[in-house]
Amino acid sequence: MNALKPRDPRRIETLIGRMTLTEKLGQLTMMAASHTVTGPVIAGHSVGDIRSGRIGNLLNLIGAAAAREMQRIAVEESRLGIPLLIGLDVIHGHRTLFPAPLGEAALFDPEAWALTARESAREAAADGIAMTFAPMLDVSRDPRWGRTVEGPGESAWVAERLAAAKVRGYQGDDLAAADSLAAVAKHFCAYGAVTAGREYASVDVSERALLEVHMPPFAAAVAAGVAAVMPAFTDLAGIPMTAHAGMLRGRLRRQLGFEGVLVSDYNAIAELIQHGVAADLVEAAALALEAGVDIDMVSGAYLQGLPAALERGLVSLERIDEAVRRVLSLKARLGLFDDPYRRGAAAESAAALGERRRLARDVGARSIVLLTNRDDALPLASDIRRVTLIGPLADAPAEMRGPWWSAAEPDAQISVLAGMRAALPRAEVLHACGVDIAGSDDSGIAAALELCDGAQAVVLCLGEAATMSGEAASRAHPGLPGRQRKLAEAVLERAGARAIPVIAVLFSGRPLVVPWLAERAAALLAAWFPGCEAGHALADILTGRTSPSGRTPISWPRAVGQIPLDFGQRRGGRPVDPPGPFSSRYIDESPEPLFPFGHGLTYGRFTLSHLRVVPDSGTESATVQVSVEVENQGRRRAQETVFLFTRRLKSRVAPPLLELRGVGRIALDPGARGTLTLPLAIAQLRSLGPDLEPALEPGAIEILVGASANRAALLTGWLEVRTTPES
Ligand code: GLC
Repeated sequence: MNALKPRDPRRIETLIGRMTLTEKLGQLTMMAASHTVTGPVIAGHSVGDIRSGRIGNLLNLIGAAAAREMQRIAVEESRLGIPLLIGLDVIHGHRTLFPAPLGEAALFDPEAWALTARESAREAAADGIAMTFAPMLDVSRDPRWGRTVEGPGESAWVAERLAAAKVRGYQGDDLAAADSLAAVAKHFCAYGAVTAGREYASVDVSERALLEVHMPPFAAAVAAGVAAVMPAFTDLAGIPMTAHAGMLRGRLRRQLGFEGVLVSDYNAIAELIQHGVAADLVEAAALALEAGVDIDMVSGAYLQGLPAALERGLVSLERIDEAVRRVLSLKARLGLFDDPYRRGAAAESAAALGERRRLARDVGARSIVLLTNRDDALPLASDIRRVTLIGPLADAPAEMRGPWWSAAEPDAQISVLAGMRAALPRAEVLHACGVDIAGSDDSGIAAALELCDGAQAVVLCLGEAATMSGEAASRAHPGLPGRQRKLAEAVLERAGARAIPVIAVLFSGRPLVVPWLAERAAALLAAWFPGCEAGHALADILTGRTSPSGRTPISWPRAVGQIPLDFGQRRGGRPVDPPGPFSSRYIDESPEPLFPFGHGLTYGRFTLSHLRVVPDSGTESATVQVSVEVENQGRRRAQETVFLFTRRLKSRVAPPLLELRGVGRIALDPGARGTLTLPLAIAQLRSLGPDLEPALEPGAIEILVGASANRAALLTGWLEVRTTPES
């Protein structure tokens, strides 16, 4: 059994004092089992390496029995019996999948974000997992980038709140509990700003963008107590993040006070050679250790390179011990020394699994964004007799998972077809694929068109395969793949000729550039990847069992040429408003998104009025209350989401068009009205001055409230910020 159970620093020091160099480097090494593949498979290691202490951590191992056996070997058969840290990408669920993160961001609900993380942690810990490589906090304004699907969307404000919620959810109240996971905030930093949206490409953002957009989510994760951080694959202005001492030891550890573990991305230390900053594994290992990376994921560079680096004086034993200390401390905090078998010891009850799927259905429905709904085409009539589902995503349960599906089985997902048939037992629900998701075969279109005849509604289920977004899945043409557009246009033509409404549902990991579809479909929905209850969740929305409440967390482009798009761009000296020959515009396209950040329709009809700012002036310590009257003039109960923005008219640094400061939600019955009040702490209005130091500037602040970042539709008020009470 364990030679030692370090419950406190002194015992960890004693343990370190007994470790050989190989055993120390083994604690800094995480190797991949092969239960899932999340990067190039690196061969050359075995359980013998666990027994010898050369491997102290594992990833991509799935199943309580397997985890227990690996843990047993480490604890019972190695010299010092140090337990393994076992990690996995539990990104949006483990065996029960919730919506892909970009879809979940559409809820704008931190409580829901924390709850799904908590449930994911319970399920993964029951499989012996103790670390998840999540939350992914990369702000992205570029739908070409495949990993946009994994993140919080375009807003740093949303990303900060998602970070705190997810860390709270994954880590729970006690990191040593049997159902808690160590969370890993990733990918530090600014990975979402890859050049041209191309995966792994260089990142070169201004210091200001780094501090205003990309770092705040990590600061929020650190403040929430995140156990670990993962540097990005990418270089930041030429310095690979895995070797970026200024960012890792500097901004992350010294400035943000992060004391946890830095775990490299998959093989990233060895890839410092590809980056061209290391000649061999010895130099790569030395660079990463000196930058502050504690665990080498998969590359073996620490095991193979650090002994020589020590001999060459490139690193010191103190640096190695410092990293080992952080890893052992995390294992102690996780309770692994106290009871290495605690996670996975007890199977979950059927009731817990059932409850989790009910949550997945609710969150799935709430993630769906109703983008257009011409003439109230939706919800479908309750007495509908025939609905035709057409498209390659209609009966595609595996695709509903989206990328990073962890241990979720393909056949455990509810397809649209299954969901619609369950929701409409008295209706005839017909189905034809028409075309594949990708590929050039359009021979199935004719048969699909036949099924439109006689239908009271056609639902087009279009979009991407689960693997067309996520890692290594950037797209230069982020529209409908394959022959789907040809299918959609043929269906719109056929159904249009028969006055049959066509509802288009997009399953994707990104906003798809489909202005032609938005124009012609009777209704358009973004379903993202809704997770295991996809079919039931979508059916709940289409049949009106649930009113849509999702709001897009990312601006939806009209054209690829507009990218990157975000609501918080700086105005410039010839702003887009008012439009004119010398305003910031394109001569061949609108500068505005097809759908702005926060856009989403409901089955209600909401009006906002009577914006009030109370008090309308204050100093830094004050909090003002921004309230607005909301009325549901529709015929159905629905939930409205309201956004609070601010805009400075003048500042020492050119102010953004809009800055998000708050989000509120209110559910109202038809005809009902209510008051929504959002607090605004004046301290939140601090901004980075020309010297990049935070400061609160006095002056007039415009308060803007509305249902999205559509500037033309916002109610406006004013707030005077004073620096002294009498000023
Ligand atoms: C992958 C991803 C990272 C993930 C890791 C382990 O390459 O970049 O997000 O956590 O490797 O699978």
